[in-house]
Amino acid sequence: MNLNNVLRQFTIALCLLHVNVHCANSWSLEHLASDKKLAASGSYNNPELARKMETVFQHLKNSWCSQEKAKLIMEIIIFERLTMCVEVGTFMGSSALPILVSLEYLKNGHAYLIDAWSNQEAVKGLSPDDQNAIWWSTLDMNAIKNHLLHMLGHWHLDSYCTVIHETSEQAVSHVDSIDFLHLDGNFSKDGAHLDSKLYVPKVRSGGYILLSNVLVTANQEPTKMKALWPLFETCDIVSEIENGNVLLFRKK
Ligand SMILES: C[S@@+](CC[C@H](N)C(=O)[O-])C[C@H]1O[C@@H](n2cnc3c(N)ncnc32)[C@H](O)[C@@H]1O
Repeated sequence: MNLNNVLRQFTIALCLLHVNVHCANSWSLEHLASDKKLAASGSYNNPELARKMETVFQHLKNSWCSQEKAKLIMEIIIFERLTMCVEVGTFMGSSALPILVSLEYLKNGHAYLIDAWSNQEAVKGLSPDDQNAIWWSTLDMNAIKNHLLHMLGHWHLDSYCTVIHETSEQAVSHVDSIDFLHLDGNFSKDGAHLDSKLYVPKVRSGGYILLSNVLVTANQEPTKMKALWPLFETCDIVSEIENGNVLLFRKK
């Protein structure tokens, strides 16, 4: 594909995304489908919750999970009581932490944390000269997984999750009737699309899907755009954060 085609595709994709995202506002408690009173005017009735959230935000400073994203994850899981959670792409657990602390706060629920922790899988579908491929191919994936396991032990969160060391395609048979799905796996066009195609149908009606790194590009192509189609077909867009880089959907 020549550069003009790439740029044209990129512009079309961004325009389409903009039209859809334009309908979604930045995350606020107004977007909750239930329990709005619990979280009236942005203040929490339970001071323990505010304290817990602050501890998570402090831990996640300079991590892959922004405070904005951690807050959204915790509010949606806690206030909507989303107890069956699945994350595709756990890496060292930055976004898994707010998921698990929310389940611990609810004293109910379970999260399936899926990652291949494999350099080969992470670069699959990316061209070898792409910056993402170069970065993903040099990581020590064992050390990254160990970091996650250490974090789970340190926060006493092991009983709230199952760590699945498989590709997203292999792991899909383990999960069903998902309340909250975080799609944050493969960066390639086909890989991200496959995750969306495999996992979005597993989310129950009324359940939520958070798609991360929406604006990532590989060789100047916005590779997560194709992953949006299964979502736009079956879900309503609820909210966006990080200037459209993270989108929240609700299954119809
Ligand atoms: C952007 S990172 C996830 C970041 C993580 N959610 C966080 O907040 O720290 C993407 C992850 O997807 C994983 N991944 C890539 N391709 C995969 C595949 N086919 N199956 C499972 N995991 C995959 C990579 O190993 C990597 O850990």
